[in-house]
Amino acid sequence: MWVSQSVAELQGSLRSCWKSSTSIGLVPTMGALHEGHRSLVRRARNDNDVTICSIFVNPTQFGPNEDFTRYPRALERDLALLEAESVAGVFVPTPVDMYPSGFDTRIDVGELGRIIEGARRPGHFSGVATVVTKLFNLTRPSRAYFGQKDAQQLAVIRQITRDLNIPVEVIGCPTVREPDGLALSSRNMYLSPSERLAATVLFRALNAGRDAYRQGERTNAQVRDAVTVVVQSERLAVLDYAEVVDPDSFSSDDPCTDRSIIVIAARVGTTRLIDNLTVSAEYEHQGPRTLHRQQRTGTLPSQL
Ligand code: PAF
Repeated sequence: MWVSQSVAELQGSLRSCWKSSTSIGLVPTMGALHEGHRSLVRRARNDNDVTICSIFVNPTQFGPNEDFTRYPRALERDLALLEAESVAGVFVPTPVDMYPSGFDTRIDVGELGRIIEGARRPGHFSGVATVVTKLFNLTRPSRAYFGQKDAQQLAVIRQITRDLNIPVEVIGCPTVREPDGLALSSRNMYLSPSERLAATVLFRALNAGRDAYRQGERTNAQVRDAVTVVVQSERLAVLDYAEVVDPDSFSSDDPCTDRSIIVIAARVGTTRLIDNLTVSAEYEHQGPRTLHRQQRTGTLPSQL
């Protein structure tokens, strides 16, 4: 497995793939890899001749008071995991390589980048869109893989590829969950044991919203109320938002339809977590994946 630490090295590593029109599957990550990332890699490997990953904690998608410096970094472990998954190569650029002196362009994602999660994290989606566009240009993949847990990010990336005619197929992969429902996230490692238990409230609340929909509630407010009540019952959690939205535009869906998704953000202790679920269980093409017991024991990064 090659590891390229600069744009020049990366281009050397990929040149033969580009020449031979080998299909490249790209899995962009910020590292601290877990089973969710592993599922993206496996899907990419299944779909493409060659699978590559990027590991880059992108400073431009973090707000000034967010966790950029604290964000978990585990490069050696990540590389070992990717090697074990037969990834062909990994791009691990430095911030200066991605944003050299004089860099002064940002992608403005428009309305989708400014609502819901974008309203709470100004500039976040612009940072994501900019770095993902750079990664696409630098690696020229046929397909790129993103988790559905970050549903608005996925919608943003689909929107930029459509709007800017970027010739990359964007593939959303199902959220991977712990057996108690907590969606895997690199930020779960911030949780203390009691917060970890409390963090299941997001999935419980989403399911309460889904139940309300199944029982015939169709307004955004009714579904949102069902979600809110559950979060409020958890002492360690504070709801940031719960909304029922269209999965492409993220505009409020009122009335909700089978396509709608419930998106939630909540603070558990000081850790901010996000998650989502379709209102209709039937509409979920592939149900949430959970870890098997043997995957939870041993050295899986989701446990580290
Ligand atoms: O989802 C992530 O890990 C990041 O937002 C991404 C897509 C790698 C861009 O930095």
